[in-house]
Amino acid sequence: MTAEVVRPDRPGLRRAADTLRAGSVCAFPTETVYGLGAHAFSRSAVEQVYRLKNRPTWNPLIVHVPSVAAARDLAAIWPAAADELAERFWPGPLTLVVRRSPGLNDVGRTPADTIAIRVPAHEVALQLLDACGLPLAAPSANRSEGISPTTARHVVQSLPEVPLVLDGGPCAYGIESTVLDLTEAAPRLLRPGALSLRALRAVAGPITVPDTTVADGSQRPSPGMSRRHYAPRAKVELVDEFPAAAAGGVLTYEGHEADAQSPRGGGPQVAEVLSADPREYAADLYAALHRLDDAGVDRILVRRPPDGEDWLAIRDRLGRAAA
Ligand code: TXA
Ligand code: MG
Repeated sequence: MTAEVVRPDRPGLRRAADTLRAGSVCAFPTETVYGLGAHAFSRSAVEQVYRLKNRPTWNPLIVHVPSVAAARDLAAIWPAAADELAERFWPGPLTLVVRRSPGLNDVGRTPADTIAIRVPAHEVALQLLDACGLPLAAPSANRSEGISPTTARHVVQSLPEVPLVLDGGPCAYGIESTVLDLTEAAPRLLRPGALSLRALRAVAGPITVPDTTVADGSQRPSPGMSRRHYAPRAKVELVDEFPAAAAGGVLTYEGHEADAQSPRGGGPQVAEVLSADPREYAADLYAALHRLDDAGVDRILVRRPPDGEDWLAIRDRLGRAAA
C-alpha cells in the first residue's frame, strides 16, 4: 500500500478528520516537521502509530491541541510558568511537559505520570485539530531513529504504509519543537529544538540544561533522546577539517564552500552547502540529509557546526545522527 497524499483543502481536511475519528492515523504538516497523528486517547490508534514507526513503546508521544484551554484540560497541575510560556510562544514550536490529569484514560500514560503538550503553529494542523475535535498524539512521521520529514514526500518515503498524508508544503522550522519539563521547581530542557533557550529564558528565567553526554540509558532526561536518532542510511561523520579529497557526500555551510569542491582526481560525489544562519541551516538540514541519502552515498562528512546556543539543537541532532 502506498500513502495517499492530498491537498489540505476542505475535502482533504474532511477526509483526514474522518480518518482520525474512525480510529486510524494520518500524517499532517506542522511548523517544525510532519507529524503522524492519531487520537491521543484511543489505544488502537496510538498502537498503529507505534507499529508504523517501529517506535519503542517506552517512548511517549507529544499531544497536540488547538488552544491553551485544551492543554490545561490534560494537566493535573498547570504551573504559572506554563501560562506565561504558552501565552508568549503558543501556537509555536514549544512542547511543555506537565503532570497528567487523573481524569484521562491510561493510553500514553508514562511512569512519572506526565504528559507532553503543544499547540502547533501551522494553519493546516490547527484546521485539522478543529475539524476532528480530538487531541492528536503526533510523533515525527518517520520510522524510528530515521530523519524527521519536512515534506510530504519524505513522509511517503519513510512510511509508505500511512494511509493519508496532508501536504502542506515544506515545514518552516525544519527541526523539532523544544521540549521543556515544568514538573519541578526549575524548568528543565529535555530536547533542544526550534525555539531557542534565549527566547525561553527571557520568559521563564533560568533553565536547567542537562549534560547531553549522559543522554543515554537510565540518565536520559527525556525517554526519546536515545543517542542514535535522526540518522540517515549513510554513515555520518562530524569533522573539523575536511580531507583533501572527501569521497561520498558532504554537508557543510556558507563560508566553507571549499569543502564541497572537487579537487583534481577526487572530491565528494554530492555536496550540500547550508546557510551560516542557524535558523536557515535548521530549516534545510533534514531535507539536505534526505537528498544525500537519495543520492546513494554510503558516507556523509559533515562540517561540525559552530559552538554557541543558537546552534544547540543542530549540534544535538547531528551528534545523534553520527552516533
Ligand atoms: O516538533 C515536534 O515536536 C514534532 C511535531 C510533529 O510536533 N513531534 C515530535 O515528536 O518531534 P517525537 O515523538 O518525534 O518526539 C517527542 C519527544 C521525544 O523525545 C519524547 O521522549 C518526548 O518528546 N516526550 C514525550 N512525552 C514525554 C513526557 N511525558 N516526558 C518527557 N518527554 C516526553
Ligand atoms: Mg521523532
